[in-house]
Amino acid sequence: MRVSIRLSRKSDIRQYTKLLQRTYQDAYTSEKLGLTKDCFSMKVFSTPDTQKYLKSSLIINKKQKTWLAFIGKKLVGSITMTESGKEFELRGFYVSPQHQGKGIGKQLWILAKDFAKRKDIILDIYAHNKRTISMYKKWGFVIDRKKGVFYRHWPEWPEGLKAKCIYMCLNRK
Ligand SMILES: CC(C)(COP(=O)(O)OP(=O)(O)OC[C@H]1O[C@@H](n2cnc3c(N)ncnc32)[C@H](O)[C@@H]1OP(=O)(O)O)[C@@H](O)C(=O)NCCC(=O)NCCS
Repeated sequence: MRVSIRLSRKSDIRQYTKLLQRTYQDAYTSEKLGLTKDCFSMKVFSTPDTQKYLKSSLIINKKQKTWLAFIGKKLVGSITMTESGKEFELRGFYVSPQHQGKGIGKQLWILAKDFAKRKDIILDIYAHNKRTISMYKKWGFVIDRKKGVFYRHWPEWPEGLKAKCIYMCLNRK
């Protein structure tokens, strides 16, 4: 399995949308919370607001980089690191379900971490995403309890449905 990694381009939007949609659906669906597969359907990912957000992640400049991992021509992974004041924010970190656990995420993480120089790295994550929270802890992140929690609600979700999110931080001073 040969993985190649390059910076994102605007023209990656179709494959990027598909990758995130499939991975969200696999990782975040939770019967207990009422988060059904429909909450992360292609229809939801195709709305103008979501497309605008995803396109903004593919922009490369001095303050932001997104790396994409490919096997052949197939997009299998992504990561975005954005400078925000004194720190960097990690987002859009996804590896397609059938390619997870094979070291692709780690390769993307090393590139993104390097771009963030020695500055702190912050992220937010669904509280029910226990497996990835453990992975971040292994990489030195801690839960930022001072920031508290927030509840995410996508406009396309049924009214009243919301999912708890927490903040994590990698202190690098
Ligand atoms: C999080 C994610 C991007 C990591 O990518 P990946 O390719 O699966 O990760 P890797 O195979 O490189 O493994 C990274 C680390 O996690 C560990 N890991 C991988 N699979 C694991 C599993 N099933 N259980 C526990 N740890 C696991 C690896 O041992 C590795 O640890 P190391 O750094 O000590 O070597 C990917 O799993 C994913 O897309 N998950 C669902 C979406 C998600 O949670 N995204 C993050 C949103 S904030």
